[in-house]
Amino acid sequence: METALTRMLGIEHPVIMAPMFLVSNTRMVLAAMNAGITGAIPALNYRTDQEFRAALDELRKHGKPYGINLIVNRSNYRLKEQLQTCLEYKVPFIITSLGHPGKVIESCRPLGIRVFCDVSDMAYAHKAASLHPDALIAVNSEAGGHCGTIPATEFVPALVQAFPEIPIISAGGVGDHASMQKMLSLGACGVSVGTPFIATEESPVSMEYKMACVEHSSMDIVLTTKLSGVPCTVINTPYVQKIGTRQNWLESLLSKNRTLKKWAKILIYKRGMNKLAKAAFSATYQNVWCAGPTVDYIDKIRPVKEVVERIVRPGVR
Ligand SMILES: Cc1cc2nc3c(=O)[nH]c(=O)nc-3n(C[C@H](O)[C@H](O)[C@H](O)COP(=O)(O)O)c2cc1C
Repeated sequence: METALTRMLGIEHPVIMAPMFLVSNTRMVLAAMNAGITGAIPALNYRTDQEFRAALDELRKHGKPYGINLIVNRSNYRLKEQLQTCLEYKVPFIITSLGHPGKVIESCRPLGIRVFCDVSDMAYAHKAASLHPDALIAVNSEAGGHCGTIPATEFVPALVQAFPEIPIISAGGVGDHASMQKMLSLGACGVSVGTPFIATEESPVSMEYKMACVEHSSMDIVLTTKLSGVPCTVINTPYVQKIGTRQNWLESLLSKNRTLKKWAKILIYKRGMNKLAKAAFSATYQNVWCAGPTVDYIDKIRPVKEVVERIVRPGVR
């Protein structure tokens, strides 16, 4: 199938294995490449620049396109170093999220590095589009992680109409061929798929996390602001129910205080990410597992190849 995305990256199918904090790794992306799609990894999944470079060395050996996700807001105090490394390696594409992508686009353009910007509403899309990115990723209301608020059926056509010259990729709500076709029929040139890949054989997270994705449905997905201050989708485990899904009075007071809010946000974010990391890799009762409503498509732990097949080929179950 040929679309603006397959042509731009030289891939067989218009699918990106979406970047997922803690979850994405080189093994998953290599399996994605072999299955004819591409994949992206958050730079934040590597604790040091050395580890990040080792991963990039491994990925580039395969000569196929891969992406790196950069969080471009203030919570990411390592952005400068991560961007520098991406530029040195001339990574094929970068996905920016949660902030202003201007600096990234400006530095990548002369090197031919493609930049795709996550957008979750029209106001933000207008800002990002004015910087002429290579694509916009429409993070819709069904997406996992920091989801959007607008359903794909409205958001994708609105973006296509507003920015006819920019390819639009849809993120959220895809887990099989019909759901991918639906996004393409709305005018998207590709889809970015995260949650369905959490419970894959190649995924590094704990068996408990994978099985939670198998066992829960979209009815069990709730939004919490506890982790980062921004709404994020998680499985409604007994621990999530116990701690609640909204910031307590002290957290919201600090987040609104003019002088303290910058530091409060960083601290809340760091604490939330530590909670996620603990739950992702070890058996603990403090289970905060990030996943979106597309857990509905996860029926067992499968290899990446099978998850891809279900999306790109009609009738595969
Ligand atoms: C566990 C998890 C972690 C995520 N981490 C990130 C991240 O670090 N950076 C980012 O830009 N998006 C992140 N996302 C959002 C995905 O990149 C993508 O937009 C989303 O998964 C698409 O929706 P889907 O889960 O229904 O496929 C995450 C999503 C999930 C489920």
